[in-house]
Amino acid sequence: MIEIRDVSQIYAANDQPFLAVDRVNFSIGEGEFVCLLGHSGCGKTTLLHLLAGFLRPTDGKILIDGKEAGKPSTERSVVFQEYALFPWLTVLQNVCFGLRSLEHDKREREARAIRALQRVQLANCADRYPHELSGGQRQRVAVARSLVLRPKILLMDEPFAAVDALTRAELQTNLLSLWKESGVTILFVTHNIDEAIFLAQRVAVMRRGAIAGIRQIALRYPRFRSSTEFSAEYRAIEELLYGNSEELMEN
Ligand SMILES: Nc1ncnc2c1ncn2[C@@H]1O[C@H](COP(=O)(O)OP(=O)(O)OP(=O)(O)O)[C@@H](O)[C@H]1O
Ligand SMILES: [Mg+2]
Repeated sequence: MIEIRDVSQIYAANDQPFLAVDRVNFSIGEGEFVCLLGHSGCGKTTLLHLLAGFLRPTDGKILIDGKEAGKPSTERSVVFQEYALFPWLTVLQNVCFGLRSLEHDKREREARAIRALQRVQLANCADRYPHELSGGQRQRVAVARSLVLRPKILLMDEPFAAVDALTRAELQTNLLSLWKESGVTILFVTHNIDEAIFLAQRVAVMRRGAIAGIRQIALRYPRFRSSTEFSAEYRAIEELLYGNSEELMEN
């Protein structure tokens, strides 16, 4: 469904070219859940923004269903690193916002928004404002706002990084059920190994702009963090992330 072919991205910062994505080749199948894992600054957001159509690759091609990605589209919905809700709109209005160009009937827009809010267990908060919600609830509104567009592809950029560990675990479980129910294809960016193993069918590890390796996670869902298989996956991914044990010591 998504094909990234020899894609590079060069930024020009202070007239100095900077290679943020370095000849990446990678494909994602329909309905797949893939995590993109890597240290801060390795190019994860850049790659996600290339897929979303916010950036045009300096080199290479991105194909979605065989066609060049081009401009942003509601088929590819993005959940950003910070949940950017409009503070002056209620939860319901926030979720309805992106639907304005797709659905003219206000009642139908609201009905769809309520259904999306039900899927993240927040229909009872529809009339509240973002400041009246907890961080985890705000993040769920951000997910509902993407889901309401019925995207084929959900691009998520460290969506749960700002919430506490318990809420994060809940949001992860919630996202897995959404994925199973909807069949949506997910690319989820994280710098958290544990999160990647808990969620993904495949983990693509990025280092310095390139894909350092891809790990298939064959564990059945739901996954248990305390299992020996989980720990074995953790170690395998750590190796991809740090290269070898000397680099591991340096980090
Ligand atoms: N607009 C820009 N102009 C110049 N350099 C940029 C620009 N955006 C990002 N970069 C640089 O490109 C590299 C990759 O940035 P990117 O945001 O993709 O990293 P990331 O992996 O998402 O990091 P984080 O985990 O901190 O979010 C970084 O070194 C960053 O400084
Ligand atoms: Mg980022």
